[in-house]
Amino acid sequence: MIEPDAYRRLAELAWVHAPPEGDTPDEDRVGRYQLVERLGAGAAGVVYHAVDPEGHAVAIKILRRRRGTRYLREVELLERTAQRPGVVALLDAGRCTRGPYLVLELAEGGSLRSVLSRRQQLPWDEAVRLVAEVAECLSDLHQDGIIHRDLKPENILLQGDGRPLLSDFGLAKDLGDEDGELTAAGFALGTVGYMAPELLDGRRDQLGPWTDVFALGAVLYELVAGSPPFQGKTLNEAARSIKAGKVKSLSQDPALDAVVRTCLATDPVRRYPSARELGEALRALLAPPPEEPPAQEPA
Ligand code: ADE
Repeated sequence: MIEPDAYRRLAELAWVHAPPEGDTPDEDRVGRYQLVERLGAGAAGVVYHAVDPEGHAVAIKILRRRRGTRYLREVELLERTAQRPGVVALLDAGRCTRGPYLVLELAEGGSLRSVLSRRQQLPWDEAVRLVAEVAECLSDLHQDGIIHRDLKPENILLQGDGRPLLSDFGLAKDLGDEDGELTAAGFALGTVGYMAPELLDGRRDQLGPWTDVFALGAVLYELVAGSPPFQGKTLNEAARSIKAGKVKSLSQDPALDAVVRTCLATDPVRRYPSARELGEALRALLAPPPEEPPAQEPA
């Protein structure tokens, strides 16, 4: 049976895929935006720094055409999430001769991936503070039944003042939604090194906030250690490494190592059940040790 919503989505997809009438290709323009510089490219598309007609800086993400469904999904999820602090704001969306595009708030500090390529690794307390902020923002989304499912250094952006912004909700899963096709696509598209075992195995009934907790643990590990916890020359090798659950200890601090290990537990039940609890564990690492009680004067 064709779902009632399918016709509307088909019409939307046809619109998204058709090049706009009367538009002539222009290398430097997308709709009413002037492209300034290419910021990066990923599986989903290419991101540019651009300016709007009023001269405001924005980011433009031009999506590969074949990701039409993903585009609609990302727009829907961005519309639901983009008003929140800590989530990259969606300013506009449209299509150009090169494909559908999203106009997003520009994260002036770039992605955590670009920070890692510049700095290799971060001091542990800076990394913990950053991931705690991401966990706090994520916790609000989790409470609304949205899990991101594709957290990785590429999708965590930084504002000019260094505060993080979450981006790329193309694979995000609405826990109330039964969208099998997107689940399959999510498996193929997500970056394996940050994917929890239940996501790798497609165990949909086991996905939850703890799936994002796993990914954040992997990101934190990489920020502190300078290399990701799970690696492999092929996707299968990386997936095997994740399922084996063997991780080299973080030498920086045993308490931090314990928090990261809890995030990276193979069994979802052994992880922090929510991003809020992960945030609290990270804040506790940053808290100064309690003061020693003053020594008692001998009577
Ligand atoms: N890379 C991906 N999205 C971005 C954004 N909104 N700002 C800066 N860099 C990005």
